[in-house]
Amino acid sequence: MSLPARTLPWDWHEGVIPRNAKIDSTAYVETSFSFRFFRSELDDAIEYGRGASTYLGTMFDVGPRGRVRLGDYALVHGARIICDSEITIGEYALISWNVVLMDTYRLPANASERRRELERVPGRDPRIASGDVVARPVRVERNVWIGFDACILPGVTVGEGSVVGARSVVMTDVPPFTIVAGNPARIIRPMSQQEMNGANAQ
Ligand SMILES: CC(C)(COP(=O)(O)OP(=O)(O)OC[C@H]1O[C@@H](n2cnc3c(N)ncnc32)[C@H](O)[C@@H]1OP(=O)(O)O)[C@@H](O)C(=O)NCCC(=O)NCCS
Repeated sequence: MSLPARTLPWDWHEGVIPRNAKIDSTAYVETSFSFRFFRSELDDAIEYGRGASTYLGTMFDVGPRGRVRLGDYALVHGARIICDSEITIGEYALISWNVVLMDTYRLPANASERRRELERVPGRDPRIASGDVVARPVRVERNVWIGFDACILPGVTVGEGSVVGARSVVMTDVPPFTIVAGNPARIIRPMSQQEMNGANAQ
């Protein structure tokens, strides 16, 4: 069931929250501008859990079959979420500035196919390049912290409680309770017992 389109009383952008976005009454959306590239046609395209927040700079670049989930108290500080399949952000996950979470590369590696896609851009609204490329779900599990400018690529799961260093490019799964960093991201160390304490606190 879709909800009525809603405006935000504090919004500087004259936009609406999409009808197929389910946003808990305690969640926070700083601006409807975050939905400028939101095109999902699914009934349950987006869900914000209890106390979840998205701030200025967060962009939901979500295609017609895309679905995004933000768990309870997840906080997204200005990330680009490029989703044609599914991106899940677990409860208490913290996503810093300029992070990119992508479940699809959107464009093919083949140059002539890419040229054809670029030729379609002028006829599109919104005017974006978005080809028929396989998408693989991304999962950011509970209590994860992703540092600024990091990039999480298609198919990756960042395991519970892990930390991704600033400016990292994460190409493969991150085990739970591990710190990774670099390009490509490598394990720096497992988290200490002290750092893991409280991970299961309610
Ligand atoms: C990942 C991070 C948490 C690690 O902190 P730490 O445990 O104190 O790690 P250290 O500083 O002791 O570094 C350990 C090693 O990892 C490397 N490293 C740390 N962060 C790195 C990064 N972002 N990219 C590449 N390498 C990194 C260090 O060079 C060091 O390598 P060495 O052992 O060869 O000397 C921290 O470096 C980081 O990136 N924090 C991001 C914070 C952020 O984005 N805040 C925004 C507010 S929401």
